[in-house]
Amino acid sequence: MADQHFGGIKIRHLYKIFGPNPAAHVDAVQKGLTKAELNEKHGHVLGLRDINIEISSGCIQVIMGLSGSGKSTLIRHINRLIDPTAGEVLIDGADVVKMNEAELRTFRRHQTAMVFQKFALLPHRNVLDNTVFGLEVQGIDRAKARDVAMRWLERVGLRGFEQKYPNQLSGGMQQRVGLARALSNDAPVLLMDEAFSALDPLIRMDMQTVLLDIQKEIKKTIVFITHDLDEALRLGDQIAILRDGEIIQQGTSQDIVLHPADEYVANFVKEVNRGRVVHVEAVMRPFQAGMASSGTRIAAGSTVEEAMRLLTSTPEGDVVVTSAEGEALGLVNLRELAGAMVNSHTSAPPAVAAQ
Ligand SMILES: Nc1ncnc2c1ncn2[C@@H]1O[C@H](COP(=O)(O)OP(=O)(O)OP(=O)(O)O)[C@@H](O)[C@H]1O
Ligand SMILES: [Mg+2]
Repeated sequence: MADQHFGGIKIRHLYKIFGPNPAAHVDAVQKGLTKAELNEKHGHVLGLRDINIEISSGCIQVIMGLSGSGKSTLIRHINRLIDPTAGEVLIDGADVVKMNEAELRTFRRHQTAMVFQKFALLPHRNVLDNTVFGLEVQGIDRAKARDVAMRWLERVGLRGFEQKYPNQLSGGMQQRVGLARALSNDAPVLLMDEAFSALDPLIRMDMQTVLLDIQKEIKKTIVFITHDLDEALRLGDQIAILRDGEIIQQGTSQDIVLHPADEYVANFVKEVNRGRVVHVEAVMRPFQAGMASSGTRIAAGSTVEEAMRLLTSTPEGDVVVTSAEGEALGLVNLRELAGAMVNSHTSAPPAVAAQ
């Protein structure tokens, strides 16, 4: 299993311009030429502009944005399926952009694994043979590769399906194979581009649960792209929102829901059930000497919805928000909790980071 300290990603001043002569236009783009101007005046497409993002090892980083905003372009820079026009992509300090072909091949095989939207299984190989594929490419002993693959197939709920072929499986099952194949590689970085977007809503939720459960054990660095805000909020330790090739906001789910950076983000989050995202600390009255600290208690980090549930039998009371050590941090009542469900701008202090 990969060491927890591996897999940190830093992207610095990354630019991507598509067209016959991208290098000729970087300067102008750096000076503020817009995507529309670049297209109209010079016939080039601005894919990414000045992307700066730091992804801690072991975290799930979600990238969100409308179609064409640059999500796939960004994730493909991480394993250099796309060469940048300018900038750095550092994985554990090594710049992927500077790697030669041999280094890049080794890096791709050992440091990254990818799960695609269209499962990309080999139709003439059965489930087991699809899952061992990456290990075979690495030259790992067949018996050992099989053991590893069987373990992950079992972990994603496919025990007993090893001999089936992709066309005998549902979409959800095929994506489980895709996930097992990626996990068998045991690479510290897992890249998932709309991996669950082709699945029915219920199957999609199942897959999110599988991923979150497994992530508790494996603690990979996962870059997960999605169009879907509910999926982003459920999976992301951190979320970055892209528009026209630029990151317009980065933060936890709560940061984004409570303090959308602009109209574009506000439009994304307006239908969200805030009670499931906002933490009790964001709405509590901070604890001061003399306040009563008895009553129902709830751990910091719990959601507003969870706190409201505790008050259903005693709607007049306060809930005491406590730290991991059991110390009282603040009090919150039903009115304050209800306010957090509907306000687009809470009067609470800036959101407390999730970790
Ligand atoms: N090879 C290419 N040549 C020219 N333009 C490209 C190329 N690849 C992507 N683009 C352009 O770059 C921009 C970002 O595309 P990208 O595929 O990264 O978007 P996306 O956010 O992944 O969209 P979707 O949600 O539809 O998958 C778009 O304007 C797209 O047309
Ligand atoms: Mg895409």
